[in-house]
Amino acid sequence: MIDIIQIRTMKENTKGLESGINKGFPDIYNSFPKEVRDALNRFEAFFRKSLSSDSPLLNEVMRYIFDRRGKRIRPACVFLSALASAPSKPFTDKTFAGTAAIEMVHTASIVHDDVVDRSDQRRGNKSVNAEWTSRIAVLAGDYLMAKALVMITEYQMFDFMNVMSRPIVEMSVGEMIQIEKSISLDTTEEIYFEIIRKKTAVLIGASMEIGAKSSGASHLAETMYCIGENIGMAFQIKDDIFDYEKTNLLGKPTGNDVVENKITLPLIYALKQVDSKRQKEILKCVKHSSTDRKHVSTVRDFVLENNGLTYATTVAEKYVEKALNLISVLDDSPAKQSLISLSLYVTKRNE
Ligand code: IPE
Ligand code: IPE
Ligand code: MG
Ligand code: MG
Repeated sequence: MIDIIQIRTMKENTKGLESGINKGFPDIYNSFPKEVRDALNRFEAFFRKSLSSDSPLLNEVMRYIFDRRGKRIRPACVFLSALASAPSKPFTDKTFAGTAAIEMVHTASIVHDDVVDRSDQRRGNKSVNAEWTSRIAVLAGDYLMAKALVMITEYQMFDFMNVMSRPIVEMSVGEMIQIEKSISLDTTEEIYFEIIRKKTAVLIGASMEIGAKSSGASHLAETMYCIGENIGMAFQIKDDIFDYEKTNLLGKPTGNDVVENKITLPLIYALKQVDSKRQKEILKCVKHSSTDRKHVSTVRDFVLENNGLTYATTVAEKYVEKALNLISVLDDSPAKQSLISLSLYVTKRNE
């Protein structure tokens, strides 16, 4: 637990945090119930405190990450799920600790991912590997991952151990399958769905599950997990669509999936529309894009001509539809309404 001595040490080590350069939350969060908006703000302070350590360098890296926060979509999922599950007493200490653990795992995964994807930009700024080095990014990611598990132990959330540790394993396996497939270049839709379920959807599912469990509504844990998993599938497909945009809307480079030889849904579909000779030509461009970025636009044009983005959007919307069907069984409430809005936001977002 965070105690007074730790807070004092933390204050010394995180000087300047108060003048952070945090962006606001996505606009859609303004429509969330006040309890959820308040919880998201309280979470920020809790999260910042829980990142402190004895290493000034680590504190510097953590401050850098905290100051450039993301959309906090997973915390929003935890709080909305908790409020929809237990409207009278939704948020306990465990809800905040569980949310911090989830966001730590997510943050670790993107810090590591930028090393793996050799990406120098994140959230509109330099990635940790670009600002420092890859070895510092690897260690900072390890620290965040381990801190998440310590959080679960400190708050005696032993019944959450399984929910929290499964996404960590699945993410590693998902990213590893992705690397294997970027070498063999033979990703099918089925494999693609397996990869994105593991690397993204399971953690968003876990966020929703933790929301239900931490508010004492274990009977809703499975339904909430499934809602989150479907939102997560749509979320990653949309992220992969963004990678085909010419302009950078998300504060991270576009075209990087092709450069890293990641065959995502828009390209999988487009390749299926042409004969094997054309497929080979395009796969050659994908391979060569790692050394010469001019091939990225050839692949992008090919995907657009063959309706890859339209198809991927339709599939993402199907996952949203699945989430909405599951949400419809919940009791009516403002939080349920916000879960509907959040599901729709995932494919409509431009951030
Ligand atoms: C980025 O996740 C990685 C994916 C799973 C696509 P987010 O888009 O949620 O990242 P931040 O936290 O808002 O930057
Ligand atoms: C999602 O994959 C990353 C994780 C779940 C760790 P991406 O590689 O597409 O994520 P971005 O686009 O770099 O955020
Ligand atoms: Mg990446
Ligand atoms: Mg991406």
